[in-house]
Amino acid sequence: MSGSAASRGVWGSKLGFILAASGSAIGLGNIIFFGANAYRFGGGAFYVPYFVALFLLGIPMMIVELGLGTTQRSALPGAMYKTTGKGGEFWGWWSLLNAMIIAMYYITILAWVASMLIKGISGALYENGAGTVVPSFMKSISSWLTVALAFGIWAVNIFFLLRGTNTIEKVVKVFVPLMWFFMIVLVIRGLTLDSGFQGVWYLFTPNFSGISEPAVWQGAFSQMFFSLSLGLGTMTAYASYLPKKSDVVANGSVVSFMNCGFEFVAGLAIFSMLFAFTLHPGPTTGTLGLSLVVVPIGIANFPALQTLFACMFFFLLLIAGLSSSISIIESPVAAIRDKFGWTRKKALLAVAGFGAAGSVLFALPMMLKKGGNPAQPLGLSLLELFDHWAFGYSLLVVGLVEAIAIGWGYGITKLRNQINENARFKLGPWFDVLIKFVVPGLIILVLLLNVLKETGAKLTFIGIDKTGFYKGDSGTFDGYGWLPMAVFGIWLVVTVVGAYILTTKGNYPQQEEGEA
Ligand code: PHE
Repeated sequence: MSGSAASRGVWGSKLGFILAASGSAIGLGNIIFFGANAYRFGGGAFYVPYFVALFLLGIPMMIVELGLGTTQRSALPGAMYKTTGKGGEFWGWWSLLNAMIIAMYYITILAWVASMLIKGISGALYENGAGTVVPSFMKSISSWLTVALAFGIWAVNIFFLLRGTNTIEKVVKVFVPLMWFFMIVLVIRGLTLDSGFQGVWYLFTPNFSGISEPAVWQGAFSQMFFSLSLGLGTMTAYASYLPKKSDVVANGSVVSFMNCGFEFVAGLAIFSMLFAFTLHPGPTTGTLGLSLVVVPIGIANFPALQTLFACMFFFLLLIAGLSSSISIIESPVAAIRDKFGWTRKKALLAVAGFGAAGSVLFALPMMLKKGGNPAQPLGLSLLELFDHWAFGYSLLVVGLVEAIAIGWGYGITKLRNQINENARFKLGPWFDVLIKFVVPGLIILVLLLNVLKETGAKLTFIGIDKTGFYKGDSGTFDGYGWLPMAVFGIWLVVTVVGAYILTTKGNYPQQEEGEA
């Protein structure tokens, strides 16, 4: 099947695409991870690296990824193959294998969210006020029920993706406006609490103290890529369903600004509660803890309608997460169909089967004792370890490869000219400088520091004092000392060998020229 435009899928309208792409971008990253990162790196101190990341990395790479999809009308591996050959294709598949790993635990996190939502609806969440939040959360992440919920969430994803753009569009037309609505209600509630407004100052008063710390920059860079759904082939897959004449610059800017706007509103909602109730998440709260524990504790202190607000918050997380998870899954589905000509159903079921098996792994409720720290479920430990590699490295590596392959290999001027043909705001030669020099330079710098850190190099002169091979956020694993290294090995072998097999197996069907 060489796949005419119609059988691959097309968006019903421009609005449909914008909603789908912003539904993809706005997700757990904007609420859970942004809040945690902004808090960890000191609110206003996160500001400078964040905006540098948005303008110098995020928007330019958004334009490249959308441009690839729009002009090549293929998912990432195919678009890379057509522009830069087999070498580029390899990195496309490598990216999608990382996307699969991320989809697995993204859905496990959604299962925990769903479990908290059920606790909210059943009344168990606030049975004894704020005091039952922590036990509820611990029960959620250490119960077999979550495993069942993870299967349920995969089933919902399959249902939403079964008819491609058609069903995706229907879902995002409801979910995206709804999540803006819920978020606005929450932020108004937060800001009108006594002292809630202090959260605004915390988040918006620029503070330059942290900008010499590489960890802040790395946090901002990875956060930006993840939040904008870059580095996992998603934006390329979604853009491949657009007509060739689409305005890539306008699409990229609208989606990026909507995403970051939502992120700041979400940050305000969270920080207003932290200030209103003087909640101080400790260093052990962890990324998930801020949203799944600290925020619900804050809501328990609301003057009225606590359960309603808590359910609204979890429901918001659930729909924001679902409109993102469908896009992560669509990316490999589209790529498999492009290359191997499988039907949508076959590709979807294969991806979902593999993915659901992985989600079970990350949901495993058995408790594992960690050195000096309280026990935590095995699934959560695996999640931390895989996330370190699949999230911490792959997004930036893929961004780097794209910038170099397209910038130097294919020729960014060529892509820029194709994009400019249909763009109202034309990209100047400065764009080439960004893609060829600035993006690779910034990413290489951050990756280099990370790798040095991993090898245990002494980096105290630039403010990194915790170096050494990554062993999980909260210490070493008693009796399981081999686990961090094993996870690293599995990640590396699976993604590299898998990408090699997918690249060398089969050939892309001959392209039909002259498609609309
Ligand atoms: N952008 C999504 C979020 O913020 C996650 C995502 C990453 C989705 C990459 C697709 C691709 O949650």
